[in-house]
Amino acid sequence: MSFRHKHLLGIAGLSAEEIVEILDLSESFLEISERPIKKVPTLRGKTIINLFLEPSTRTRTSFEIAGKRLSADTVNISGSTSAAQKGETLLDTARNLQAMAPDILVMRHPASGAPHFLANRIEAAVVNAGDGTHEHPTQGLLDCATIRKHKGRFAGLTVTICGDIAHSRVARSDALAFSKLGATVRLAAPATLMPLGIEALANGSPGSIEVHHRIEPAIEGTDVVMMLRIQKERMGTGLFPNAREYSRYFGLNRKKLELAKPDAIVMHPGPINRGVEMDPDVADGPRSVILEQVTYGVAVRMAVLYLLAGGISEEGKA
Ligand code: CP
Repeated sequence: MSFRHKHLLGIAGLSAEEIVEILDLSESFLEISERPIKKVPTLRGKTIINLFLEPSTRTRTSFEIAGKRLSADTVNISGSTSAAQKGETLLDTARNLQAMAPDILVMRHPASGAPHFLANRIEAAVVNAGDGTHEHPTQGLLDCATIRKHKGRFAGLTVTICGDIAHSRVARSDALAFSKLGATVRLAAPATLMPLGIEALANGSPGSIEVHHRIEPAIEGTDVVMMLRIQKERMGTGLFPNAREYSRYFGLNRKKLELAKPDAIVMHPGPINRGVEMDPDVADGPRSVILEQVTYGVAVRMAVLYLLAGGISEEGKA
């Protein structure tokens, strides 16, 4: 086992070998979700707190299911029910949760770097479930797992990520992961939604990152098309004219998808703004693997929880 981290804070801290190890482990956990009784005793006696201070459907639910399928005790705290609403600081919240001796704290937070801040101050292992515009490492891993299932490799593969790159933690984690594994990553966005110098994320990786300001050349001949949501909640005004105009130039429809390879797959981390970044007939079409991404979300998160809990617990051996 090469994975030696106490926390999972970002793809940036993982080697290609560690990413592959998590993907391999996820395949074995995928099988558990296909059994009639979807539960193993692996993490019995471990406590996992899911602290979500931003909305989530997929990530929060799949972390809870992942913990429960491994027999850990899982506790969920959301922004609306936490004492953060009464003015408690993040550090005070975390110290109070630590006083209840959890083994793993999974957290989503609107501020980039919030999980790193807590990882230096509490005993529990911290998993970043999305921090501001920074990273969403388990999304990056589940996207790798989905692509590997369909394409079998990353070296020589072209993956196009199109949309609001500037505000997307998914784009960052994906671009880091795909380039570490050897893929060519094409990022496509209007200039106002593309961070300057983002190509440097691939420095030191076998893969590379290209920047495009039109979707058509970014899709041409690609193996994978990943569309992203416009994150209105993270942007001020004026970054693009309106949803209709954006959809016309950067939305994915069947005609634009014809530019990709005939066996190209279509992905989206969710939630989808149907008719804005993607037409419904593409989202639900034969090339879409969007719901497979969600299925892999549980398996990948089981693998991450297993690794951070130190493998099988003493209780789990019983
Ligand atoms: N992909 C993703 O993070 O979805 P949620 O916001 O629903 O968790």
